Amino acid sequence: MRVASNSLAHLIAFYHSELNSVYESSEIDAILNLALEHFLGFSKTDVVNKKNENLNQSDLLKLYFCCKELKKNVPIQYILKEAWFYNLKFYVNQNVLIPRPETEELVDLILKENQSAGSFLDIGTGSGCIPISLKKNSKNITVSACDISSEAIEVAKKNAELNKAEIHFIEVDILNEKETAKKIETTFDVIISNPPYIKADEKDSLNQHVINNEPHLALFVNGQDEIIFYKKIIDLCHQKLNAKGKLYFELNPLTAKNVLDYANSSKQFSKAELIKDMSGKIRFLIANKN
Ligand SMILES: C[S@@+](CC[C@H](N)C(=O)[O-])C[C@H]1O[C@@H](n2cnc3c(N)ncnc32)[C@H](O)[C@@H]1O
Repeated sequence: MRVASNSLAHLIAFYHSELNSVYESSEIDAILNLALEHFLGFSKTDVVNKKNENLNQSDLLKLYFCCKELKKNVPIQYILKEAWFYNLKFYVNQNVLIPRPETEELVDLILKENQSAGSFLDIGTGSGCIPISLKKNSKNITVSACDISSEAIEVAKKNAELNKAEIHFIEVDILNEKETAKKIETTFDVIISNPPYIKADEKDSLNQHVINNEPHLALFVNGQDEIIFYKKIIDLCHQKLNAKGKLYFELNPLTAKNVLDYANSSKQFSKAELIKDMSGKIRFLIANKN
């Protein structure tokens, strides 16, 4: 199918007809807003007010090819190579997870609860969305972030530069205790992680957009123990989380209770609790070190 004319109204109709088998109508509108903002600098109000205006051929072509990619299930953030998180713009590519709204809730929680904390560590940082948002929204804090993926660290460093945030990055396999003890040299007031938490055999239950595009290293846990990352990080807190410090996790609602039980059995926290996200799902753990 072709775009009927150069008008914005026809482009919008084209997106809806091409993408209705892949996305809900409201999702197509949200995607169009992102694409029109990116390629034409249009605000949402412009999109409403300029429906009868004609787009030039070059802009129309960019938006046409964007639609073709979307039809192949490529998420809009990977096509535009950008994602918004906590009101900041991040560069993203297929080496990093697209930051999620639940993670913004986590950042919000951490910022509200830790106004006098001085040092933060984010484990499995991906795009760097967590440490960079923390650094940009707090005064006088030091922030470190680690990931096993050198490609992810490269993206996170680029984002730290784009957002003018000073972050100390460490490439490390958090499942390897010796390597972690050596490379993570200091201790922290706050440790945060949104680690991989989907069992490899649950692949089929995931959306195709996610499976085909997002890095499996960020999504899946290999082996039988699906909460292995949480266990290793809780163990790490014995050495690396300061007394009275706090641990924050983003969780899989299906295994949240097991993570809470493991935190309690580690006997290093005076309080550990599960918190629901805005959609009412158990999504976060907060634990206060003795
Ligand atoms: C669910 S993603 C979270 C990314 C980012 N923090 C966010 O919330 O958007 C998990 C991250 O953990 C990293 N990761 C996977 N295995 C790891 C390991 N063994 N050690 C350190 N990081 C690891 C992945 O590369 C990925 O960036």
